[in-house]
Amino acid sequence: MDMMELMKTRRTYRRFTQEPVPQKVLDDILLSTRYSSSAANRQPLRFIVIKDKEKVDEVFQYTTWAGQLPKELGWPKDDERPTLFIAVIENPEISAWCDTDTGIALANMTLAAWAHGVGSCIIGACNKPVLSEMFGLSEKEKLHSVVAFGYPTHKSTIVDPEEDGKLNYYVDDKVDYYVKKRKLSDTVSYY
Ligand SMILES: Cc1cc2nc3c(=O)[nH]c(=O)nc-3n(C[C@H](O)[C@H](O)[C@H](O)COP(=O)(O)O)c2cc1C
Repeated sequence: MDMMELMKTRRTYRRFTQEPVPQKVLDDILLSTRYSSSAANRQPLRFIVIKDKEKVDEVFQYTTWAGQLPKELGWPKDDERPTLFIAVIENPEISAWCDTDTGIALANMTLAAWAHGVGSCIIGACNKPVLSEMFGLSEKEKLHSVVAFGYPTHKSTIVDPEEDGKLNYYVDDKVDYYVKKRKLSDTVSYY
C-alpha cells in the first residue's frame, strides 16, 4: 500500500478477530515509537504492552468505546475484543510537550500496525486512576491512553460531512463505519 492509501485506510477499528497480533508486528509497532520525533529530543514517553488474554480482558473492563453510538453497536462483543493493548505513559517532568510527542507516537504506532493489516483504536476514555495503579505508574507519570489492536472484522470509510456540518461517525446495517471528515476547502487556505 502506498503511504497516502495507508493513511486513508488507517481508521479507527472497534471489532476484531481473536487471532493474536504476531510478535514481529508488535516489534514494528514498538519500534515506530523509537522513530518518532520528540520536542527537544527529550523523549518523555514510555509504553506498556498488555498481550496476555487474561490481562487484556482486565484492561478492557476499564475502557469505553464509541461514545457517539449506542453500546450494542459501538462496543466489541466478547468475541470481538482487541487482542493487544499498549498503554502510553507521559512524564511531564521531562518535557512540557508530552501531548505533541504522544500524538506523533500514536500516529506512528497505528500506521505501523496498519501496514501489517492490524487495526487500532486509541482509547482516551479509560479509567486512568485504576489503570495507572494497575500498571504501577509513579506519581510523576501520567497515563495518556491505551491503544487497542487487532485484526478488524469491519470496514471504515471516510465521507464528506452533510450540509448541517455535523461530524458524527455512524454505522450502516452491516455495522461498517463511516467517518465524516471536513473537506480541505473548509480547512485549508493559501496565504
Ligand atoms: C486522543 C484520542 C482519544 C480517543 N478516545 C477514544 C475512546 O476512548 N474510545 C473510542 O472508541 N474511540 C476513541 N478515539 C477514536 C476516535 O473516536 C476516532 O479517531 C474518530 O471517531 C475518528 O475516526 P478515525 O480515527 O477513523 O478517523 C480516540 C481518538 C483519539 C485521537
